Amino acid sequence: MGTRVRGPEQGTERMLKLDNIHKSYQVGPVMLEVLKCISLTVEPSDLLSIVGTSGSGKSTLMNIIGLLDTPTSGSYYMQDKEISKLTDSQLSEIRNQKIGFVFQQFNLISRLSALGNVGLPLVYRGMAKRRRNALAEEMLAKVGLDDRAHHRPVELSGGQQQRVAIARALVGKPAIILADEPTGALDPAVGKDIMDLFIRLNQAEGITVIIITHDYDVANQCQRVLKLTQGRFVESGATP
Ligand SMILES: Nc1ncnc2c1ncn2[C@@H]1O[C@H](COP(=O)(O)OP(=O)(O)O)[C@@H](O)[C@H]1O
Ligand SMILES: [Mg+2]
Repeated sequence: MGTRVRGPEQGTERMLKLDNIHKSYQVGPVMLEVLKCISLTVEPSDLLSIVGTSGSGKSTLMNIIGLLDTPTSGSYYMQDKEISKLTDSQLSEIRNQKIGFVFQQFNLISRLSALGNVGLPLVYRGMAKRRRNALAEEMLAKVGLDDRAHHRPVELSGGQQQRVAIARALVGKPAIILADEPTGALDPAVGKDIMDLFIRLNQAEGITVIIITHDYDVANQCQRVLKLTQGRFVESGATP
């Protein structure tokens, strides 16, 4: 087993617990219920996928789990802390320290090298350049891109860009990675490599991973699969 990158607080606590979460948006005169009765417990060692068609509420749920949005009702605990009791600055601190985000479109900065992109979150933590670059190099090695550190995003394939984005998500040593359609812009074979990387990070580094996808082939590579339909979890386990 490799070096575990989770912080010193790893122990018996739950990673996440969502209890009867609802989310509604007021759109003109209509109240749109996007998430209904969502309850979910995630343990630190979990590799979980949430699968559903477009519009089923996946990104809304990921934004709530990732502390980018708040539920309309229900309670949410991260590592046994109740999120609704925290201030905005406590929330952004938890988001920065505990959560690594990966998106469909990679969201890399085009004028920075792979190394610069991976080190960027550490700039915001005020870390000196030498140490930042050393950590960024270490993370690029973890995703198999140590030989591409000085390439800019346009000089990398889609799969390589997503690896850079994953290295950037890892550099802050998060407890959990939230990936919203991480294979959505990639060919199936490249997407499979990215899923293999998430599986390896979960097993070797002990990072909790939640994959959000509309693709059952992707979802079924995870230990746990939850299906979201019109804002509700409808079943888990075997899927089409
Ligand atoms: N900020 C918002 N205001 C109003 N409706 C929204 C907002 N965000 C999402 N929705 C609606 O919520 C539903 C679920 O959206 P989303 O979570 O993005 O689904 P998915 O990621 O599964 O495609 C959609 O019907 C969408 O139009
Ligand atoms: Mg979405």
